[in-house]
Amino acid sequence: MDLIKLRINVADYDELVQLMLSCTKCDLHTTRKRVVPGEGPLNARIMIIGEAPGEKEDEEGRPFVGAAGQLLTKLLSNVGIRREEVYITNIVKCRPPGNRDPEPNEIEACKPYLITQIFMIKPQVIICLGRHSAREILVMAGYPEKSVSNISSIRGKVFNVRLGDLNVKVLPTYHPAAALYNPKLRGVIEDDLRKIRAIIN
Ligand code: URA
Repeated sequence: MDLIKLRINVADYDELVQLMLSCTKCDLHTTRKRVVPGEGPLNARIMIIGEAPGEKEDEEGRPFVGAAGQLLTKLLSNVGIRREEVYITNIVKCRPPGNRDPEPNEIEACKPYLITQIFMIKPQVIICLGRHSAREILVMAGYPEKSVSNISSIRGKVFNVRLGDLNVKVLPTYHPAAALYNPKLRGVIEDDLRKIRAIIN
């Protein structure tokens, strides 16, 4: 996949956000309240990629502000990462109705936005939350889909990948929403996140 060809030609980040805010490339635009482009410093060394906005995110237009987001902020803080130092976004920028999984055509429609964000921010590490995010990023990096579809077997591993012209480390872990229902996963996510400090400079 030639990721560089998918990059959107924009003058700056603000122009990219404006494109996302007015996007009608898939049917999610008919049901969303607000687009959730992402937030965080544009020079962040760490980028977090979730799945899709939920109800609260759809209302506020900001990523990870609901219950899963609050848990994420706490888990990050427990391992010494401040949320404000991280750029946070999702695979798709609009809420799927009823929080269903995003459809392949919705992920595909949103992909140029995500790729352009990655190329602008140039993170050292991408943390993928949950199987959809991990599969999407690792397939983009050239891994066969079957080898990266099981989050339990790939979480906590650091993948050194090339995305277009960017060398980046990818760390998949469980989605914090899963840890809301299964508190045992909180410690696992923290153990995975703890690896970040050792691999960024
Ligand atoms: N879950 C996600 O994957 N992303 C959000 O922004 C909120 C919940």
